[in-house]
Amino acid sequence: MVKKRTCIFISGYGTNLKYLINNSRNQNFPIRISLVISNNKRAKGILYAKKNSIPYLVINTNKRNFENLILKELKKYKISLICLAGYMKIISKKFLNAYGKKIINIHPSLLPKFKGLNTFKRILKNKEKKTGCTVHFVNEKLDGGAKIIQKSFFINKNDNEETLKNKTQKLEHRAFSEAIVKIFRYN
Ligand code: GAR
Repeated sequence: MVKKRTCIFISGYGTNLKYLINNSRNQNFPIRISLVISNNKRAKGILYAKKNSIPYLVINTNKRNFENLILKELKKYKISLICLAGYMKIISKKFLNAYGKKIINIHPSLLPKFKGLNTFKRILKNKEKKTGCTVHFVNEKLDGGAKIIQKSFFINKNDNEETLKNKTQKLEHRAFSEAIVKIFRYN
């Protein structure tokens, strides 16, 4: 199997990146992580790239042409899949069109519920019975593309933002890899 060369975009802790790196070591897993891009030079996730000798780049998104710089690197590393793993920047329509290949994102809610930020606070405020995570294709609408996989759990009355986050992330760590296997099952 020829593994798809993949770039993971991060902004923070990178725990999803860590699980993707581990799973990509399996020879039957459809991707190899060829590049990590962070928009935050202090992102802890960069350490996982360093530890595993994966090339990484810190991109200054305040620069006017930062998307062109990213596109150039994606081309250089022959990237055919982008995974947004806690990347807290919106991907522009221009970038989507220029890249033209698959981009997937993980979001900590059962989309289409609770798009955007501060999901756990809003989930609790809304007294939801269930929550979870979604992996979906990225389109020009925020958290709006087609769903690939969702995993859920029941919220109990003792849950708070912290426990919801922990439970959601535990599911995310499996969901992201399962979604990747699913999208490459037939090619
Ligand atoms: C994840 O929970 C992911 O769902 C969320 O950021 C976290 C990153 O964690 N993404 C978003 O909220 C995107 N809207 P990680 O850096 O430990 O992988």
